[in-house]
Amino acid sequence: MQALEELTQDYAAWWIDFLGEHNHVGGEDATRWLLERSRLSAGDLMLDCGAFVGASARYVAQRAGVRAVAADVNPDFLVAGRRLQGGSLVEWAPADTRRLPFRDGAFDSVWSLDSFVAPREMSRVAASRSTVCLCCETPIDNRGGLESFIDEWREFGWEMAAHRSLTMDALQTWRRAEAEMVGKRRLYEDRYGTRPYLGQLDLVGYLVQAYERGGMGHSLIVFARG
Ligand SMILES: C[S@@+](CC[C@H](N)C(=O)[O-])C[C@H]1O[C@@H](n2cnc3c(N)ncnc32)[C@H](O)[C@@H]1O
Repeated sequence: MQALEELTQDYAAWWIDFLGEHNHVGGEDATRWLLERSRLSAGDLMLDCGAFVGASARYVAQRAGVRAVAADVNPDFLVAGRRLQGGSLVEWAPADTRRLPFRDGAFDSVWSLDSFVAPREMSRVAASRSTVCLCCETPIDNRGGLESFIDEWREFGWEMAAHRSLTMDALQTWRRAEAEMVGKRRLYEDRYGTRPYLGQLDLVGYLVQAYERGGMGHSLIVFARG
């Protein structure tokens, strides 16, 4: 994991420290849950949008013989990912999810786990018979609830095939991160610098409050079409 440790030094950020390699709520268990419902099989092509060090792409390549492409706006994350276990099995592509450099209908499954979600662009690069796998914040309040989120994807031809709420997991994850950051203030202040430390603590504190008052939900979702 040396490549990940080096990254932690270069990019001092709470989300790298607290979420680790599978950098999303639910960690590797969530990745496995999505793979089991993704309808991917050996030889299929998967795109991991906002892949960070490509933990999900490397996971599906190693476990299911899937051909995986890991895309991220930050090329340094991709360079580190290539050096981690399974990195040679994956194709690494610097790319913004808002404008993906792939042809229409190229992928059998398109993933975005706790990264930017772009329904139109992700739908464009997905094949006519394919899935979209998400780990993301979902509305649960008066913004229309989960239904409004599902409706947005329906506009692009998707029907929800599987859903698991991770709202309590997200709340626990952010609470743990907040407690760790406060309890080990000196360590994280030294590591991030005083102002960035306070900024990141504010952000984690905001997330805790939002989840506590029921203003935000977190979900694993698989959409399918075709
Ligand atoms: C919290 S990490 C999640 C990483 C990864 N999906 C995982 O589950 O391990 C968010 C990642 O999204 C990337 N990202 C954010 N906005 C993006 C965008 N518009 N296009 C591509 N990548 C993006 C960041 O660079 C970062 O690596």
